[in-house]
Amino acid sequence: MLRVTPLAKDFCAEIGGVDFNAPLNRSVVIDLRDALDTYSVLVIRDQPMDDDQQVVFSKYFGRPEVGKGANPAAGSPFSRQSNLDIKTGEIIQANDRRMLYQKGNMLWHMDSSFKVDSSLCSILTAREVPPEGGNTEFASTRFAYESLSKLQRTAIAELEVEHDIRRSRELTGYIYEPETAKNFIVARHKLVRTNPSTGRKSLLIGVHACGIVGWSNEKSRELLDDLLARAEQSVFSHQWRNNDIVIWDNQAVVHRATPYDASRYRRLMQRTTISLDGIWPSLS
Ligand code: OGA
Ligand code: MN
Repeated sequence: MLRVTPLAKDFCAEIGGVDFNAPLNRSVVIDLRDALDTYSVLVIRDQPMDDDQQVVFSKYFGRPEVGKGANPAAGSPFSRQSNLDIKTGEIIQANDRRMLYQKGNMLWHMDSSFKVDSSLCSILTAREVPPEGGNTEFASTRFAYESLSKLQRTAIAELEVEHDIRRSRELTGYIYEPETAKNFIVARHKLVRTNPSTGRKSLLIGVHACGIVGWSNEKSRELLDDLLARAEQSVFSHQWRNNDIVIWDNQAVVHRATPYDASRYRRLMQRTTISLDGIWPSLS
């Protein structure tokens, strides 16, 4: 049976009681999905998982995306978050363009919010973690929504928001190569998302959100910044250990990486990203 231990009220839970590499029975998968809908961030400790096992586990949530961006693992079901060269395993120099790309993760974001089919959730497994630093932080956009007055909720109910990773990566000075940039578009989403299982609402914000459709840049920025500041009232910081797995709801939390001494310590995390268009496949 799945054990669910809340870390805060309605936000973040540690889960256990099950070997997640073994085939999962229907009731465990239902409980796992319910826990994600309720807590938005799920932490599993001491569960080693290799790439093949991670793909099998990921499919309980839906279809893993295959990236077309600048991540070193693009073309596979993984996004690799690491300061290690994918071929040699050696530490990458600080001034390397790949480390600049990694910096983008340090701004609050939702994975794949810049895609037409945005993401249901991400699954990040810790393969090698530094002894200090490199936490991942999460903030609830459900709480941000719930902090709004009735009037404010009505005012934003029908708004559409544009997300563009080319613009957000520019904020850290990273400019895509033209052949990678052409894989991206400006994605439009409803600003307010309703979770189909719980009926609770959340906001699609974060660094990729660059404007509200029909609004000036200035007015958009003011609203988006205010909403993000509201989410930041509820921050959970995950301190990684090897063999941790964290699953988060990309429709209800923003997250960000935090610094560590990347010239000294090795860090390797593997992420699978579940597409919203493949949500909750039926359980056979
Ligand atoms: C990610 C991400 C943060 C980190 O994998 O999507 O943003 O701390 N990771 O590695
Ligand atoms: Mn991310």
